Amino acid sequence: MTVNSDDILFPEDNLEKLEDSDVKDERRKVMKMKIHEKTFESYPLFIRNIRKKYSTGKVANKAMCLAVEKNIVFGLLGPNGAGKSTLISMMAGIYPPSSGTAYAAGYDIRTEMPKVYLNIGICPQHDVLWDDLTVEEHLLFYARLRGVEAEHGKSTWFSKDLITGDSA
Ligand SMILES: Nc1ncnc2c1ncn2[C@@H]1O[C@H](COP(=O)(O)OP(=O)(O)OP(=O)(O)O)[C@@H](O)[C@H]1O
Ligand SMILES: [Mg+2]
Repeated sequence: MTVNSDDILFPEDNLEKLEDSDVKDERRKVMKMKIHEKTFESYPLFIRNIRKKYSTGKVANKAMCLAVEKNIVFGLLGPNGAGKSTLISMMAGIYPPSSGTAYAAGYDIRTEMPKVYLNIGICPQHDVLWDDLTVEEHLLFYARLRGVEAEHGKSTWFSKDLITGDSA
């Protein structure tokens, strides 16, 4: 097992006691895998020791490991407060992990968020659409929020057909 600074485990997380056997199996599987493009071809969602400790001291994700295979529909379930939204928020670049990381299509959420964005889509828990904006205006608005310059808004990320509403 390769141990580097991305793979720090914290005794306070008490993983040995808290993790179920299938979670331990997944951890072992992930830690055996190489951080390599071949791995990411088979596992486009690859999460390795991702941990989030909020400034309040709350640890929402405890060094979570997960490798989701290609062509799999994966559901992340858990009780209230389990850390689902925290994980999705880190995947969406809303805030960084405290340690560990995740790779989407092989891109590291710590350092390659623009490429991660090209490979993920997120439908948030709460409605973030406005009745008085068109589909085009919504797309352009969120593109601007994510750093796409105004002059590139229509050409960079969206197909012309999507913007104009033409069907193929
Ligand atoms: N911004 C924050 N600051 C401090 N603690 C937070 C913050 N956001 C979430 N938490 C705490 O982190 C833990 C995980 O919360 P999270 O919202 O990720 O859980 P969840 O699985 O999405 O829950 P739910 O099913 O209710 O949506 C909870 O204890 C929550 O109170
Ligand atoms: Mg949630």
